[in-house]
Amino acid sequence: MSSTLSTNLAGLALRSPVLLAAGTAGTLDELADALDLARIGGLVTKSITPEPRDGNQPWRVVPLEAGMLNAIGLANPGIEAFVKDYAPRVPSVGCAVIGSIAGFSVDDYVRVASALDACNCFGAVELNVSCPNVHKGCEFAADPELLQELLREVRAVLPRTRLFVKLSPIPTGKVTMSDIARAAIDVPRSNPTGPNSRPGADALCIANTTPAMAIDVVTRRPKLGRITGGLSGPAVHPMAVKLVFDVHRAVAKATSTPIIGIGGVLRWEHAAEFILAGATAVQVGTGLFVDPRCPLKIQRGLEKWVASQRASSIASLIGAVDTSDNQPR
Ligand SMILES: Cc1cc2nc3c(=O)[nH]c(=O)nc-3n(C[C@H](O)[C@H](O)[C@H](O)COP(=O)(O)O)c2cc1C
Repeated sequence: MSSTLSTNLAGLALRSPVLLAAGTAGTLDELADALDLARIGGLVTKSITPEPRDGNQPWRVVPLEAGMLNAIGLANPGIEAFVKDYAPRVPSVGCAVIGSIAGFSVDDYVRVASALDACNCFGAVELNVSCPNVHKGCEFAADPELLQELLREVRAVLPRTRLFVKLSPIPTGKVTMSDIARAAIDVPRSNPTGPNSRPGADALCIANTTPAMAIDVVTRRPKLGRITGGLSGPAVHPMAVKLVFDVHRAVAKATSTPIIGIGGVLRWEHAAEFILAGATAVQVGTGLFVDPRCPLKIQRGLEKWVASQRASSIASLIGAVDTSDNQPR
């Protein structure tokens, strides 16, 4: 891997900005059979909850022309089994590993975060506050005050580990994505002598799946067992690019907060769009179901793109979309 792709994500040194998205590559390293994990930037684990979860009833995944619909419902082994059976393998996975956390209360997130921090092998934890497939899964991503309360408590148990926050593409209520992003970054400091330089998120992950539904018109039944689910893949990509562009301009650039662009990255052009819109890194999810080796193709394409742009590194292209001839919005 050429050094033009190496990048720095909130102090986490990455071989490349291409990561595997939470829940799309197994619990930890199961994709290693098909993809050499030592050649990609990193991976995000399945979202882990305090207790084991079986997830929702089938069908849990439905392919669509423009992507896929899922309602897995956070099926995972729970934090105790994860720490015992999976965490010991993290140092030998070959790429940066980010531990994803989901929960239904502040205590849930704190319990899992504290256990992952104690492992001292995760490059960051990613708080999934935006799962559309469980009851109350998006609650924290919809309310700036609630989100800040959560981040304050979680930060306090992460003396060793970076904190990333994965936002919902559609904040509910009267807030915009930029309002939520600002809240995630600007958490009022409660412990000025704490170990972390910033009390809020070290990076923003934009975004999770979009709530959606599909119906079988012959049986007249919803295609997913849970009735509704989350849409991912090509259909969500342009929406995610706009969210990254907006948040980069409104709040992330000024506060030097890196963004991870997520949604419909199947080819290198999709990743390049996210970088130009303001992302430091990208995650690939649905693309892995189409071709588990696509991250390597994406990386090769990005290398050529960086050279063709006469740029010294991919980092120099972050936020470099040229809007100079466009009308102000
Ligand atoms: C089958 C499946 C399972 C997922 N599980 C999780 C999860 O456990 N935690 C999470 O934060 N996101 C989860 N996601 C969302 C992805 O990480 C990603 O945000 C989303 O799919 C958009 O990216 P994509 O278009 O590249 O798939 C899941 C997505 C899919 C398709």
